[in-house]
Amino acid sequence: MDVIRALPENIRTRLSQVAAQMGVGEDDLLLSFVGDALDDCEISRQRAAAPEHPSLFPEDEVTEAVPVIEPENSLPFSFIDLFAGVGGLRLGLEAVGGRCVFSCEKDKYAQKTYASWFGEDPAGDVTELSQKGLIPDHDLLAAGFPCQPFSIAGVSKKNSLGRAHGFKDRTQGTLFFHLAEIIDRMQPPTLLLENVKNLRSHDKGQTWNTIQGTLKELGYAVFDKVIDAADYVPQHRERVFIVGFRRDIFGDQPAFGFPAVPEVSRPKLRDILESKPDEKYTLSDKLWGYLQDYAEKHRRRGNGFGCSVAKLNGTTRTLSARYHKDGSEILIPQRNRNPRRLTPQEAGRLMGFPEELVSRKAQVVSDTQAYRQFGNAVVPAVVTAVATHIVAVMREAVVSRSGNGCVLKAKKRRRRRLSKVADELSRRKPK
Ligand SMILES: C[S@@+](CC[C@H](N)C(=O)[O-])C[C@H]1O[C@@H](n2cnc3c(N)ncnc32)[C@H](O)[C@@H]1O
Repeated sequence: MDVIRALPENIRTRLSQVAAQMGVGEDDLLLSFVGDALDDCEISRQRAAAPEHPSLFPEDEVTEAVPVIEPENSLPFSFIDLFAGVGGLRLGLEAVGGRCVFSCEKDKYAQKTYASWFGEDPAGDVTELSQKGLIPDHDLLAAGFPCQPFSIAGVSKKNSLGRAHGFKDRTQGTLFFHLAEIIDRMQPPTLLLENVKNLRSHDKGQTWNTIQGTLKELGYAVFDKVIDAADYVPQHRERVFIVGFRRDIFGDQPAFGFPAVPEVSRPKLRDILESKPDEKYTLSDKLWGYLQDYAEKHRRRGNGFGCSVAKLNGTTRTLSARYHKDGSEILIPQRNRNPRRLTPQEAGRLMGFPEELVSRKAQVVSDTQAYRQFGNAVVPAVVTAVATHIVAVMREAVVSRSGNGCVLKAKKRRRRRLSKVADELSRRKPK
């Protein structure tokens, strides 16, 4: 670009150093600087035009230069919460400086709880988001997407590999497809996805390969690990976490690693139990008799199904979304009485949700829905542990920052894409 040659030598050298560090071309970098400068001019112009309305320019929109000093392990960044449930991912991300700018959840009872806890009505069905253009820019996309069976029937591998956007065909009709579409459109710098451990073996590993392949195809360096929440809460709960970093921002091998097992002793079930739970949670003789017979039948067949009376000094089995049916997977022993179920408050604590959200007062749905919501949720402390390591990588990529937390390298890329469109338009304009 002629303009670059016309720059003073010290600026040219600096430009070339920063471009090399960021892995972008010098001309692209210069264009994005010009874009930023024009934006700043526009903000200043609007400020001058409306000095009596300072609230029109909330702190959010003021751009600051780096370096910004952050508390350790934290970074102000924006994220969206898809398949939000009751916000387990959200709580975990907020703990490391994340600010939720959009949420989406289809279930009306989960929406009710989310609205009451976070003061925000989530948008509805993810499958309807793509047409509406509702999602704002964000630094991290979080999604605990349901594991629907993947339909790859009818699309031969050969065909799909031959297509430019083959991932769309390979995952058609699934929720992951919609997620992939959102990722493709929004290009968030980082991703945090969560799912059941079995996702890895579902459909003989094909589902997993499709997900991994799709994310890589979309330009992400992908990491995954199964983490057991038992190191953070008194519950055995294995979930797979998938973390993605856009390669054009963070490079092909970002220095990311999942957290090591914490060096503190595991929490115990007895620590989260109520001292005087309501009598209604104690199993009737009939139900307790039935559960014991059922467990015995399975034991004789040599499998481990059936009810499980938990050890007070240990960890429980996994709380499932169907816990409300009979509570058989986690029963609490009681002296001289039948065992009891967890109360919804204990179920919330077993997931590690904060006390102000698990209190009776904070429960805005029936017990059945509350159990379902906690049984579907992600353990916030695990998310925080993973997010701390994501944030450590993100910090390295922050060039400058606006109050809404955007990592500006991502914005550069958008501008580049736009400038490509602009180039194309001017090429087509009749001379
Ligand atoms: C595993 S849970 C998510 C847990 C949550 N991310 C958390 O952090 O605790 C999956 C959620 O996806 C919601 N869901 C399922 N299909 C959906 C859709 N098409 N659009 C939006 N939400 C959906 C379910 O209602 C459920 O709450």
